[in-house]
Amino acid sequence: MAFSIAIDGPAGAGKSTIAKALAKRLGFIYVDTGAMYRTMALELLRKGISPEDVPAMEQACQDVEISIAYEEGSQQVYLNGENVSSLIRREEVGNMASVSAANGKIREKLVDLQRQMAARENVVMDGRDIGTCVLPQADVKIYLTASVHTRAMRRYKEYLEKGQKVDLQQIEKDIEKRDYQDMHRDISPLKQAEDAVLLDSSDMGIEEVIDAMIALYEKKKQ
Ligand code: DC
Repeated sequence: MAFSIAIDGPAGAGKSTIAKALAKRLGFIYVDTGAMYRTMALELLRKGISPEDVPAMEQACQDVEISIAYEEGSQQVYLNGENVSSLIRREEVGNMASVSAANGKIREKLVDLQRQMAARENVVMDGRDIGTCVLPQADVKIYLTASVHTRAMRRYKEYLEKGQKVDLQQIEKDIEKRDYQDMHRDISPLKQAEDAVLLDSSDMGIEEVIDAMIALYEKKKQ
């Protein structure tokens, strides 16, 4: 049986950085499910489909082919055969993903892909509904969070490092809006699974968080 570690939490909590490093340390595959929702969102943006136009959105979801591959251990997402991994990180794509991810047909398609991957490989999978919906039987479940201010500061620094000028207050507002959307949608809203361990990384370094996760993994393996 493949081993699975589910990490859920709000945007900017450090899930992807930590999940990626954890997977590397354990020799597991890292599955970034947000990248799949972002890829679907990119398709909608390219086609000029508004998330309010539910029939058009569901048709696009039915027609599209989203797949995952690994190149030198790093996850690549393909949209109709095109590698779009570097195109899905824009703020605009993330905001669209947060809205379109509320659609049941989109979730069904992507959850299916996520479950297939977890059935084949040992995975560290991160997202919003992994412990509650995608892998309710995951061996280890973690809910990783941090304060809105900490998350906004991290994003702000990332933009500065890339030479992009951004407004910290605007980032805080975007994060609050995204949290609200992700936590209040009808289908699979972001919430801590009852059996998930809560880790608040506001005052923790990356290595400290990874070590805490490794300890949970080792306890489970005993
Ligand atoms: O983690 P991220 O910022 O890349 O995710 C982008 C959006 O996708 C997020 O706002 C909500 C959605 N998402 C989701 O609904 N379920 C997941 N398992 C992962 C992401």
